Formats: sequence, C-alpha cells, structure tokens
Amino acid sequence: MKIVSTVKELKTLREELKGSVGFVPTMGAMHNGHLSLIRQARIQNDAVIVSIFVNPTQFLPNEDYEKYPRREEADLKICTLSGVDILFMPTKEEMYAKTEPEILAPVNLAYILEGGSRPGHFDGVLRVVLKLFNLARPTNAYFGKKDAQQLYLVQNMVKTLFLNVNIVPCDIVRESDGLALSSRNVFLGKKEREQALSLSIALKNASQAIMKGERDAKNIELIMLDSLKDLRVDYAKALSRDFEAKEKITVKETILLIAAFVGNTRLIDNLWI
Ligand code: PAF
Repeated sequence: MKIVSTVKELKTLREELKGSVGFVPTMGAMHNGHLSLIRQARIQNDAVIVSIFVNPTQFLPNEDYEKYPRREEADLKICTLSGVDILFMPTKEEMYAKTEPEILAPVNLAYILEGGSRPGHFDGVLRVVLKLFNLARPTNAYFGKKDAQQLYLVQNMVKTLFLNVNIVPCDIVRESDGLALSSRNVFLGKKEREQALSLSIALKNASQAIMKGERDAKNIELIMLDSLKDLRVDYAKALSRDFEAKEKITVKETILLIAAFVGNTRLIDNLWI
C-alpha cells in the first residue's frame, strides 16, 4: 500500500492505475462499517483508493472537529490488511485554498434533518467529496447507507453535475444487538451504550407496525418517538426515499430516519422500508 499526503503524489499514482478504481472516502477512526465498504471496493475493482481526512468544512464551529476520534495507526493496519492500493491522507492546507469557489448543497435537501441541526454541514461534505472525486477519478465510489441523506446528496451531485462516477450504496453494519456502527460510538459510556439501542429498537418497532399494515406516516413517527422517550430526540421521521414528507407510507419507497442524543453524543440510524 502506498501512503501519500499531497495532491501531486496522488495524481501521479492515479495516472499509473489501469482498469477500474474503487474509492472509499473516510474520516478515519475506522470500524467494521468502513471495512465492509473497502471490502466491497476491493472485490469490484482492479485498484482501491481510500482517503482519510477529517474534513473541517463539514463541522460547524460548535461541533466536535477537534474531538473527532483520530486513530491513524489502527486505520493504517485496517487499510493494509484489506488490500488498499493507495491511501491518501492530506492535511487541511493541502485540500483547501484561502480563496476558492463555494459548493452549495441544494437548500431543500440540505437544510432538513441532519442539515436542519447542522446548517452548512452538507455544503462542506459535497465540497470535499467533489475535490476527492476530482483527485481519485474513481470508477466506483462507496458510501454507507447509514448516512442516508449524505448518500442521497452525493448521488444528486453526481447526477446534476454530470460526474463520471458510479455511486455504490452499502448496507449499514450493526453490532449483534442492533447498534449501528459509528466512529462516535467510542464516546458512549456503559449505560449510554445500552440507551443507544433505543435507536435500532425504534426502527424495528416502526417496521413491524408497517409490516402489520400501519401506513400512516405520523403514527409510525409516534411509534419511533415512544421507543426513544428516554433520549433527547432531534428527529424521528418516515419519509419517501427522496426525502419528502408523505401522509401515507409506501413499502419499498420509504426511509425511516432517526437522530438522537445519548448523553452528549448525537447518533443517527435509519431503515429502508
Ligand atoms: O461520511 C464521511 O465519513 C464523510 O462525510 C466523508 C464522505 C468522508 C466526507 O468527508
């Protein structure tokens, strides 16, 4: 595995690659969720590029940019063992100039849910993803379904800016008890780890109600809120898969989305119905 930190080095190495290239953008602190993205990229492509970059532009001033877990040594091991060809680990100075064009995510999609609580977050995500796509020039890029809104906005950017990359959505990876894997799970104390299960339980209860015939979106949201009553809930929504509110739920066209605080840690989870 070649490890590079400059744009110039990455461009040179990318020139040398032949065949299909799978790209997995990450912010490091890797867990089995990242591993499953890398594995899929490895199986489906001739070469695999991974980036590790805690992107400052997607954090709001009051957020956990400084505290975001950084585990370089463990990440390097994971990438080496999973057959990554090129690991790109730039500094923020390498990625950003003092003056550059702004990328603004579509307001109707980027200022609801995650973007409602984190206004501007998706501008930063799209900005860095576009830069990374321009550098890695991937055939396929791998994104987890756990960040469903991010995935949708990236797909939208690729479609509307006519980018030449295929986005591969990858399933959420869960602990055996249902907790969705997240780099932020390391912040959970023992009791919080138990409380965090409410998110996946809420999704399960809602999906069971849908399977039994409940189709009213508001009722489904109430079922989720009931399972989350011990947590500070940011949102619990049943939306169409293009993130629009609908009165009635249609199976195979719906996504259930939750964000809630467990202690000080904000967790998200979702289920595609
Ligand atoms: O999902 C993430 O880890 C980040 O938002 C991404 C896509 C690597 C952009 O910084």
